[in-house]
Amino acid sequence: MERIVVTDRLSGTAPEIDAVVLVGGKGSRLRPLTLSAAKPMLPTAGVPYLEHLLSRIRVAGIRHVVLGTSYRAETFEDYFGDGSEFGLDLEYVVEDEPLGTGGGIRNVYDRLRHDHAMVFNGDVLSGVDLRAVLQTHIECRADVTLHLVRVPDPRAFGCVPTDDDGRVLGFLEKTDEPPTDQINAGCYVFRREVIAGIPQGVSVSVERDTFPALLTAGATVVGHIDAGYWLDLGTPMAYVQGSADLVAGVAPTAALPKAQAHDLDRLVLTGAQVDPNATVLGGSTIGSGARVDAQAFVRGSVVMDDAQIGSGARVESSVLGRGARVGAGAVLVGVVVGDGAVIGAGCELLDGARVWPGTELPAGSIRFSAGE
Ligand code: GTP
Repeated sequence: MERIVVTDRLSGTAPEIDAVVLVGGKGSRLRPLTLSAAKPMLPTAGVPYLEHLLSRIRVAGIRHVVLGTSYRAETFEDYFGDGSEFGLDLEYVVEDEPLGTGGGIRNVYDRLRHDHAMVFNGDVLSGVDLRAVLQTHIECRADVTLHLVRVPDPRAFGCVPTDDDGRVLGFLEKTDEPPTDQINAGCYVFRREVIAGIPQGVSVSVERDTFPALLTAGATVVGHIDAGYWLDLGTPMAYVQGSADLVAGVAPTAALPKAQAHDLDRLVLTGAQVDPNATVLGGSTIGSGARVDAQAFVRGSVVMDDAQIGSGARVESSVLGRGARVGAGAVLVGVVVGDGAVIGAGCELLDGARVWPGTELPAGSIRFSAGE
């Protein structure tokens, strides 16, 4: 396979690269929140998650970004436009039918302007130094460089072993006894011509098809290994955790919005009303137009715009969609409430309950315990 000639060291002039962000997935694990919005557009610490990622891309010195869209494609351009407000040059490529992660990368090939492209899953929150990933790629003269993150429990993920020089040895399925704690972190640098080699117009998974095929073909596939902050926001619990980590500054971003109150415990957006006798902590975000009444307790939660929490209610590790209402004294722990749904006073919902948009639960109608 042809190799690039390294003429650049990042300490001198950095090579210009494109960024590609894959945002075409349906986000089914985050339903019902993703019925009305694409996952990367869900408010996370007050702005769409994608805005945080784009802020990190900009800080890394990348200007040209191509979004590979499919599901709810129009919502991205409606919000981000041509990118100029965000200091970026943004382009959109729409897949009529989702082409998978590999197909999505191939589909933007014609828009790439530089010799290398940094590709991101549009739902991963990470603290990795993006310039360091690029540096690894250039120094190793790699065809593809993957950001690999070390996690405490790799059993839930496919893992990616490397040799002493950082060359990737394989892509292994989930197993109870993983041989390494390194997993694919969902950020890659591709030599542009490698993208041309991905089959066009068909569904391809970059993880299951493209990377293993590159290894078989003898390509130089390298890991950039790091043990910093990393979270895949694909599930409701990860989504609330990620939002809280952004509020608390644990996860890096350059896109936190101006707010009426912001400290490590809370982000209260302009136009929200939080009663002085309510408690909001654990990195919760209270959206614009939302209301939290007296004696309510909110911990580690995302309360979207115009939602309401009645007096004495307890909302923990939960998401309240836009305009959702939680009645007085209700208890929600680990719950997703869709847009405009109403949880009647005194209801108790726990552990993974999902309430579909517009549903109205009468007062006292659901409990997970015998009650008093
Ligand atoms: P789930 O349905 O909950 O698994 O979420 P998802 O559809 O987002 O899938 P997954 O989390 O595996 O996707 C990882 C990243 O790739 C996300 O940022 C998705 O938006 C993106 N993605 C997944 N499938 C496609 C696709 O077919 N086309 C494009 N352009 N992006 C995709």
